[in-house]
Amino acid sequence: MTDQQANSDVDRLPQHVAVIMDGNGRWAQARHMPRTAGHRAGVKAARTLIRECGNRGIRVLTLFAFSSENWRRPQQEVSMLMDLMLRTLRKEASELHQNKVRIRIVGDRSRLGEALNRAIEQVEHLTAGNAGIELVVAVSYGGRWDIADACRRLAERVAAGEIQASDIDEAAVGGAMALADLPPPDLLIRTGGECRLSNFLLWQLAYAELFFSETLWPDFDADDLRQALAWFAGRQRRFGAVQPSLGRRERA
Ligand code: IPE
Ligand code: IPE
Ligand code: MG
Repeated sequence: MTDQQANSDVDRLPQHVAVIMDGNGRWAQARHMPRTAGHRAGVKAARTLIRECGNRGIRVLTLFAFSSENWRRPQQEVSMLMDLMLRTLRKEASELHQNKVRIRIVGDRSRLGEALNRAIEQVEHLTAGNAGIELVVAVSYGGRWDIADACRRLAERVAAGEIQASDIDEAAVGGAMALADLPPPDLLIRTGGECRLSNFLLWQLAYAELFFSETLWPDFDADDLRQALAWFAGRQRRFGAVQPSLGRRERA
């Protein structure tokens, strides 16, 4: 399918796009700059993506900003990233709010500092009533952490006598996880050339279409997004069933 054919199919826009923003370090290294410069350039790319997704009518955008495993990085890089997160949240909050963006942060907040937790609460509160694009930022997030956290919370409810162990089914587990109230991602984009999930939304990505781009995250622009969306529009999603048109013809 050509880009043009795919683009003509406007109904095939993903509702929820999830992005593993990878390649900041290599982008900086290629310019003989410290990795931290790559992270700063990455913020600009994120800003562009949020605007583009909003303009295109995508309902939810989830960005992987810092994983459970990223705590293993050198302390200096971790502090820089936490500081960048804090400053970016404070700096961008009012413009995002003006653009009707609704923001939430998912991940293990117990590992984040007090100032960052406060900034998160403020921006979530400020934008809670907005009706524009829903922006989810995954910070100190891991898919395994998310599943374990959901299990623990369900176990607590069983212990409290609120539910029975036999009530725990896929809906109950999914309902106790991050993003429970949102449609699951239809499209996952990973930049930076690696073809792995690196412990991102393991449960929620069960049926997402996976798009791997060689572009390093700071270089990811509106044209890269257009290519990913065109590719998505050409996918045939079956969810384990048969192709719907074929099914209809066979039934007739
Ligand atoms: C992604 O870029 C940003 C974070 C994980 C915080 P990297 O920092 O992983 O960049 P590369 O993969 O080393 O180039
Ligand atoms: C994944 O990238 C995490 C984020 C982009 C936030 P990593 O760079 O941490 O992943 P690995 O280590 O290459 O798997
Ligand atoms: Mg990386």
